[in-house]
Amino acid sequence: MAFGISMLAVFLGTILFAAFADNINPPSGLQTIDPTKVASTPPFEHPGLRRLADGTYEAYYVAQVFSFRPSHIVVPLGSTVTFYATSPDVVHGFEVAQTNVNMMVIPGWVNSATHVFRTPGTYLLVCNEYCGIGHQTMAATIEVK
Ligand code: CUA
Repeated sequence: MAFGISMLAVFLGTILFAAFADNINPPSGLQTIDPTKVASTPPFEHPGLRRLADGTYEAYYVAQVFSFRPSHIVVPLGSTVTFYATSPDVVHGFEVAQTNVNMMVIPGWVNSATHVFRTPGTYLLVCNEYCGIGHQTMAATIEVK
């Protein structure tokens, strides 16, 4: 019993040490969205690719059973693309194969990740969180050329 309680104290101490001494915290400042109003909330009412003035791109995605919108985008080789994704229904995954883009899409939140596409080809965007009977069909493509 004493050992168990002392271990709980050690674990709590580790968390407090990480939070205060090492300043390790969950990400803050994430954007929220009303999941019942995704279809009328800019920019998600028109999901798709946007080119910014500095030549980089933003890609806004709505993940919904059982598809991604947009289903296909084309970006020039070497482009820096920041993906933003949200869901109006259930938790989905957002993984761009062969890249480090791999995030959860959670109703009520806008998640984001950035990737520089240095290799041409067609990249597969897949849902990697089980979201229902059509989960395995939930995919889109990103063409880099
Ligand atoms: Cu969406 Cu699995």
